Parts: sequence; structure tokens; C-alpha cells
Amino acid sequence: MMTLNSQRTGLPTQIAQRLDTAETAAATAAKILIAGRIKGGFSTSFKSPYDLVTSIDLASERAILEILKRECPDDLILSEEASPTLGNRDQSGKSGAAYTAPLWVIDPIDGTMNYAHGLRETAISIAYCEQGIPVLGIVECPFVQETFIGIRGYGAWLNGEPIRASVTTDISHALVATGFPSQRDPQTLDKTLARVRKVLTSCRDIRRAGAASIDICQVACGRLTAFFEDIFPWDIAAGTVIAEEAGAIRGRFHDRLSDDYPATLDATGYMISAPGIFTALTELIKK
Ligand code: IPD
Ligand code: CA
Repeated sequence: MMTLNSQRTGLPTQIAQRLDTAETAAATAAKILIAGRIKGGFSTSFKSPYDLVTSIDLASERAILEILKRECPDDLILSEEASPTLGNRDQSGKSGAAYTAPLWVIDPIDGTMNYAHGLRETAISIAYCEQGIPVLGIVECPFVQETFIGIRGYGAWLNGEPIRASVTTDISHALVATGFPSQRDPQTLDKTLARVRKVLTSCRDIRRAGAASIDICQVACGRLTAFFEDIFPWDIAAGTVIAEEAGAIRGRFHDRLSDDYPATLDATGYMISAPGIFTALTELIKK
């Protein structure tokens, strides 16, 4: 498998340009996250009782959007804090129609709670999509100096070197990650904890690192075997192209909960897994 640098010259122009733009935006945002941590004193507030946002999320987002708007002025942008929806229907009421144009999907900080507490599992997630399908993804992890990149049809890389998902075929050998949603009503909690129980009794162990985009990239490079959670497009768009290009399989452990986003970006019931345990794990979590 080729390194990212040897692959660059073979990329179509519109992808090569977007890759440059995404790398510049991710590197710029990474500096903001690092500076914010060194300096400290950033502000925090809650969007809902368990959903934190910091002034560094907003500063990172501003810097990313400025670069994208300058370099790709005609592209649409879905971004967690500034534009979490584009509106999803055309005049005939067709769901997801607004998402077919060239589109960026951004999480300016994934793992905000980790960031605010000084933990290292924090990333910037930037995806570029065509027809609603992520075709380019970068997950930048500034505190561990890891950059994951995936380009549909070309490969997936960690710091420029090719990566592959785990080859395990035995669910009892699987190390599976998940996350806990910010909705903490009793019904949601019961369902979440029931899934955790199933995984704990059938797999090797479970992990909750606190940044979904990183969990997905850990599946891409085989450190984790699978990841599942009810989440949002900006948490999964970049990671998905990276993990799929590394051989992982994407699926759903329950039907979509809404049609706010096209199915390709909707992350309700999201699951990504090493291919050899995908079916067994989906059946386990679903049942
Ligand atoms: C969160 C993280 C976390 C996941 C939450 C997400 P944020 O994203 O990815 O791991 O469990 O569901 O909301 O809020 O840090 O961008
Ligand atoms: Ca975020």
C-alpha cells in the first residue's frame, strides 16, 4: 500500500485541492487548541444540561470556516456550532436534497469535555462530501501528534503511512468503543446501558474515550475492533471515510431516528466495525 505522499500526485485536481485546504484548516485549528490549553482561561458553557461548548470550540470553528470560505467559496458547510443543519428538503419535500452539493462537515473540537478537563483525546474533524457521501476526511489529534486521513478510492493513512482495520473474526477478541449520549432521560439511559452490558458479556472489553471521531480512527488502524453510538454527522463524517478505506464496515444497530440528514450522514444507530465481526456484533447489539 502506498504512503499518502506517493498517492498525492495521482489524485483528481478537485480532491487534491480540497485535501490541501483540509490539511491547512486542521493544522490552523490544532494550533488554536494547543494555544488555548497552554494559555488556559477559556470560557465554558452548556448547550444543554450535559453538552459542553468552550470558547476554543468557537475560535477553532471560526478559523476553519474562514479558510474553507476563502478556498472553496461555492461549497456548503455543515458545522456543529455555526450551522448544524442545512435544512433537509427540496421543494418536492425530498429528504436530504440540500446535501447533494459539494459539502464540508466540520467538528471544530470533538471531545470538548476532554479538552476542558485537560485530557488528550481531542480532535478536529473535517470531511468533504460529494452527493452527501464523505469522500475525504481528516481527523487531527493535536495532543498526540496523530493525523488520520482517508480519501475514498485511494486509501487511509496515519501520519502518512497506510492503515488497516483489525482482521479478527472472533467477537470474543473484540475491544469495542462506545459513547454516552448527552440525552440522559431514563429510557435512553436504559437502552444505552443494556447495549453496554451485551458487549461486556460477549466481547473482550469496552472503552469510552470521549471523542467519537478518534474512536472511529482507532477502528481504522486496528487498535479498536469496533465503535457504536447514537451521534451526529460531524462526529462521524471524516472518520467514516478513513475507516471504510481501511477496510472497516459501516452499519446501523437500529433504524434511523429522523430524516434531518441524508442516510449517508445520519449517525443515529451508527456503527463501524472490523469486517470479520461486523455481522456478529450488529446482531448482538440489535437483539
Ligand atoms: C462528543 C464526543 C463523545 C460522544 C458524544 C459527542 P463533542 O462530541 O464525540 O465521544 O460520546 O456523543 O457529542 O460534543 O465533544 O463534539
Ligand atoms: Ca464538537
